Amino acid sequence: MSAHDQRAQPIGVFDSGVGGLTVLRALQLELPAEDFLYLGDTARLPYGTKSPQTVVRYALAAADVLVRRGVKALVVACNTASAAALPAMRERHAPLPIIGVVEPGAQAAVAASRSGHIAVIGTEATVRGGAYQAAITRLRPGAVVRAMACQVFVALAEEGWIDGAVARDAAQRYLVPLFALNGKGDIASDTLVLGCTHFPLLLPIIRQSVGTAVNIVDSAATTARAVRERLEAQALLREPGPSGRGIGSLRFLATDGVARFAAIGGGFLGVAIAPGEVELLDI
Ligand code: DGL
Repeated sequence: MSAHDQRAQPIGVFDSGVGGLTVLRALQLELPAEDFLYLGDTARLPYGTKSPQTVVRYALAAADVLVRRGVKALVVACNTASAAALPAMRERHAPLPIIGVVEPGAQAAVAASRSGHIAVIGTEATVRGGAYQAAITRLRPGAVVRAMACQVFVALAEEGWIDGAVARDAAQRYLVPLFALNGKGDIASDTLVLGCTHFPLLLPIIRQSVGTAVNIVDSAATTARAVRERLEAQALLREPGPSGRGIGSLRFLATDGVARFAAIGGGFLGVAIAPGEVELLDI
């Protein structure tokens, strides 16, 4: 395949559900001329309660589908899959550029934090595996990272219950203990990382729980920049051209519940998705 043909291929983006659409939105802003093919593995969601072995198996199956569809790069827009399965995906599909969200999320956190005391929220699997804790302390040795699994946030986001009493109560239960100080010289975290791509939808209630003094960051914008740099470095970037190529196309695949994916996904992406735009896929 010529370099020109390769540049014209879409970028694959994958998550367990609609959460990765928060990353897709940032990717579209950063790379408006690119075509994107998004896969939500809705039949197997949630990933965050599964064992690392199962997450690796699911992530490899999802990557296989997107590679068969001819993507030029793959964005793993799921912290759980990034934390558990990036090495396995990269090994299987080398030299395809595969970019995860944990490292960019850790970069955003380190850039935002003055004190080096950083709180992380994610799925059970992401927090248990310690990938954020490791990535943050690699970038900033001596950083103090406190992490809390907030798995119920995934269900709330998938359900569209992003405000109201239930969401507020869940946020309080998770975040008040995370930010509580033990009174023995404990220093408050000045930054909170949303280490799950479903969580940005709950930002207003998370903000209410932690107050205005805490920086809240996620990995969407830093991931989009990392993808741009990687494509540039490999001469795979598609820029808006003088010939007038404007906004690239968007296509969606879901492994179950296309109507539900379209209805909820529109909120994550910021533009409506018609059920007819989502292809049902069995993997
Ligand atoms: N959105 C995914 C993440 O970023 C996982 C949600 C789930 O399937 O539990 O971790």
